[in-house]
Amino acid sequence: MEVFNIRSKQFNYQVVVGEGAWRTLRNFPHDRYSSIFVITEGPLWKRWGKSFLADSKLNNTKTFFVPPGERSKSLRALGLLASQLLKQGADRRSLLVLFGGGVIGDLGGFLASVYMRGVDCIHVPTTILSQVDSSIGGKTAVNLGEMKNLIGTFYPGRLVLSEPRVLSSLSQRNFRSGLYEVVKHAILDGPGFFKQLETGIDSLSPDNIDPLLPILPRAVRVKARVVNRDEREANLRVVLNLGHTFGHAIEEATHYRRFVHGEAVGWGLLAISRLGQRLGLLALAEGERIENLVWRLGPLPSIRDLSPARILRLLHQDKKAVGGRIQWVVPERIGHVRVTDDVPREVVEAAFRDIQRFSA
Ligand SMILES: NC(=O)c1ccc[n+]([C@@H]2O[C@H](COP(=O)([O-])OP(=O)(O)OC[C@H]3O[C@@H](n4cnc5c(N)ncnc54)[C@H](O)[C@@H]3O)[C@@H](O)[C@H]2O)c1
Ligand SMILES: [Zn+2]
Repeated sequence: MEVFNIRSKQFNYQVVVGEGAWRTLRNFPHDRYSSIFVITEGPLWKRWGKSFLADSKLNNTKTFFVPPGERSKSLRALGLLASQLLKQGADRRSLLVLFGGGVIGDLGGFLASVYMRGVDCIHVPTTILSQVDSSIGGKTAVNLGEMKNLIGTFYPGRLVLSEPRVLSSLSQRNFRSGLYEVVKHAILDGPGFFKQLETGIDSLSPDNIDPLLPILPRAVRVKARVVNRDEREANLRVVLNLGHTFGHAIEEATHYRRFVHGEAVGWGLLAISRLGQRLGLLALAEGERIENLVWRLGPLPSIRDLSPARILRLLHQDKKAVGGRIQWVVPERIGHVRVTDDVPREVVEAAFRDIQRFSA
């Protein structure tokens, strides 16, 4: 098991990664809380709830279920949960345990930050994406219609417990989706981590979690480092957006229906590699290594039918654009990115057309 310390403006907290992580809850001071509420999804809790309660030795918990899926990241779901909490007697000294993927973490984290002006929460992430990314750093949000993450807060959990065993019940697709984010973290980190993925990526699957055990903490370390340097995204945290500028535009262009998030990031990584090469920032050989690793994760849903003009329009509406200028995170080599807003429109379009040619 590895433990990472995260510094935050509100308080410092720990991210525990590895087999047995749920047991660490036994040493957590529960008696400080008046009541404990688990927020989760039905099928997930059915599969893992017993193991979690046995490992953590939490008792007298009440459990609330949210329907699986991105649509639950809504103000409506937030309101429903808040009224359930109230009905069950949750007060300012209650604790919320957020057991699920990024949807439960983002929704539950937001709820924790606003219910009675803030109650403590603990993240128990159950997807690769949430273990290496969304449970760390304290960003919470719900969507407003199709506007992703429009309403949210910065509100970290008191503790993050990432047990890799829970990933064994993920569908192949959701499993792979998280691995695209791991590839992103390896590109940011450097040749050591990247090589480790090149060696082991084909053996990763939900049926065999063992090869993932050394990889997960390495990916967590990347996120932890960035967040520790820059909690509020003023500057350094923007590097985490690698592959996401194109990725978000592709998700939006398909109304969040065709791709799971990681798959869109997969296309985004391919596109940004092309963009880097076209700008003369990224050498061909390094670009090819990045693209090969992405392709080895498997085929991606088609982008053939997407109009480049529409993608360009969507890019300019990106939430992370500053004064209408896109902050491009461009790899210069494995382990090094450059942030620039100086990329000609023609190059952006050409990079998108490059990846469109790869698509079935
Ligand atoms: N807060 C942040 O910093 C941050 C960062 C990245 C992404 N996000 C958000 O995270 C969300 C995506 O997260 P996600 O990919 O975890 O999605 P998710 O929570 O929807 O989980 C994906 C699917 O896996 C299922 N699932 C979860 N755990 C499982 C398990 N152990 N076994 C079997 N099935 C399981 C879920 O029911 C769901 O169908 C998006 O809403 C995104 O905006 C937030
Ligand atoms: Zn992402």
